[in-house]
Amino acid sequence: MPPVIPSSMVNPARTVFGRGTADSLLAESSAFGERGVLVHGASLRSSGALSRLMDGAPASLSVETWECPGGEPTLDHLAGLRSFARESGALWVAGVGGGSVMDLGKACAGLTTAAGDLVAYHNGAAIERPGVPFIAAPTTAGSGSEAAMVSVLTNTATGIKKSFRHPFMAPRLVILDSNLLASAPAHVIAHSGMDALTQAVESYLSRNAMWLSETLSLKAVKLVNTSLETVYADPSAACADDLMLGAHMAGLALSYARLGVVHGLAHPLGERYHIAHGHICALCLPAALRFNRDAVPDKYATLSEAVGGELFERVETLLEKLEVSSPLIGQPPPDDADFIAEVLGSGSTKANPRDVGPDDVKALLAELFQTG
Ligand SMILES: [Fe+2]
Repeated sequence: MPPVIPSSMVNPARTVFGRGTADSLLAESSAFGERGVLVHGASLRSSGALSRLMDGAPASLSVETWECPGGEPTLDHLAGLRSFARESGALWVAGVGGGSVMDLGKACAGLTTAAGDLVAYHNGAAIERPGVPFIAAPTTAGSGSEAAMVSVLTNTATGIKKSFRHPFMAPRLVILDSNLLASAPAHVIAHSGMDALTQAVESYLSRNAMWLSETLSLKAVKLVNTSLETVYADPSAACADDLMLGAHMAGLALSYARLGVVHGLAHPLGERYHIAHGHICALCLPAALRFNRDAVPDKYATLSEAVGGELFERVETLLEKLEVSSPLIGQPPPDDADFIAEVLGSGSTKANPRDVGPDDVKALLAELFQTG
């Protein structure tokens, strides 16, 4: 009999949902201390949303801002941000942005007081003591990173992308305000939305899934499926609330149940071919669905029912409507043992409902690169 809930469950301490709730982000953050750092991306500044947030700061609060340099987040970025936060005397860190901003802000908050080397923590050394509170307000829907105690960063010296993971890193406050989606470019809505859908599907099919995660995953699939195309056309559409909630529920579900082979492939492929996380997940999802379909026929049928048609076909249609194209086709696929070992060693691949071996990885790559 599978468990009803995970044997160890970590959640954000408080979650606030609704349009306009981000306006009070800094007032809420001031409860954690009079000095803090707000981490953000370039678009928050250029859209004017950062100024509006800063206008809501109480007079007694000292807030420094740190802009993410863009691209996939790395240990070097984290080292720079952590030095900045320490020099600022930050008593909390807020992340207002997409998955990269969230992962950097969260790791910075969790490791602010840590004495050891960042590379050692990235390689699995235990985090000895709590850092400072982390406040999360996603501007994409999304990675679901705001729901989880995990931060995925790349070590540029080794090229390996993996997670910091510790209950100390769970956000103290999450603000889900779909007004923040309004400034996201269309391709970011498409890619991050496909990441959310992939995470909902993979957490549902995961071999670690249980009643609680399955319930969240299935609701997330429905919410993302019915809202993504509309929000892609108009990020201020009313159903942006559904997309934001769906992405958050998928984030919670994956933190309980983990993921599958899409995410096992997405990390090393995204790193090698310089493709954003949501984009590479979108490209890998159809091949993974074909690979898994016959191993979990009942669950696959339930997912198909949830999207109102055959799941694989629905995903293909969605990719077309969202204008997701593949930069992999025409490039040589990776053929080295290190790549395959990284895919097979991933916690996501290990949670895939069908066992994955080296030949399976090669077959999936042949499909993705259309070399088969
Ligand atoms: Fe993802």
